[in-house]
Amino acid sequence: MAAGHWCLEDVSWDSFRGDKVDPELLKVIKAASLVEFNGADYATYLCNVFQGDEEFQAAARAWAEEEVQHGQALARWAELADPGFDFKACFKRFTDGYRIPLEARSSVRGSRSGELVARCIVEVGTSSYYTALGEAADEPVLKEICRNIAADELRHYKLFYRHMKRYQQREGVGRLRRSLVALGRIGESEDDELAYAYYAANGGGEVYERKRWSKAYMYRAYGYYRPKHVQRAVSMAFKAAGLKPQGRLARAVASLSYRFMRWRIRAVQPV
Ligand SMILES: [Fe+2]
Ligand SMILES: [Fe+2]
Repeated sequence: MAAGHWCLEDVSWDSFRGDKVDPELLKVIKAASLVEFNGADYATYLCNVFQGDEEFQAAARAWAEEEVQHGQALARWAELADPGFDFKACFKRFTDGYRIPLEARSSVRGSRSGELVARCIVEVGTSSYYTALGEAADEPVLKEICRNIAADELRHYKLFYRHMKRYQQREGVGRLRRSLVALGRIGESEDDELAYAYYAANGGGEVYERKRWSKAYMYRAYGYYRPKHVQRAVSMAFKAAGLKPQGRLARAVASLSYRFMRWRIRAVQPV
């Protein structure tokens, strides 16, 4: 854990206000707690992919500890908001149905630079997501947790970016390949992991239907974003891909992305 980093005991749990809990926001927080808590598995995968790079492996382990703590903080909040929420059981349901490729010996992104670009994109996504959720929340403890997490995610982005620059020089992976990896990773945000976490946290005894739960998740998660969150995310993603973060193209992509998200919200029906 980074020096001076917050811990669970630092959160002002006593300020919790049950009357300020938004039940819709609670659903996405439950799902987020499962994905975050799964961070330890990602560290195993990253340590396998980065065999021989002890500096990065140590950074990846410390990073995973922080992700796990995000999951613990969100889970504790969700259990306060809904005493019926059984985090352990939901996490088991999540990991029984969704596994990451722990046995991989090389990156599923084709190179170490590619892996780090993909990690940057994930952190771009989470830092903007928790900023948006924190601003949308009325409940003061959730606001505090989201603020803490968003700051961590931004630091994680910087960490992976720094290592990516190191590998990019070594491996000579150009802008085009980095952009393709970034685009690929963004595309995966509509993939199984988040939808399955949303189902595992909120589905009760229902059967998993990918399309239905993916739509349900998107309907709620996308709704919290404002144009400024999308603009910031796009400019950070552009930077990771080696493109101009504040240029005309970035502004156009941000505007299109926001419109796409609003269109997705209108096009899907909630569960
Ligand atoms: Fe996180
Ligand atoms: Fe993170």
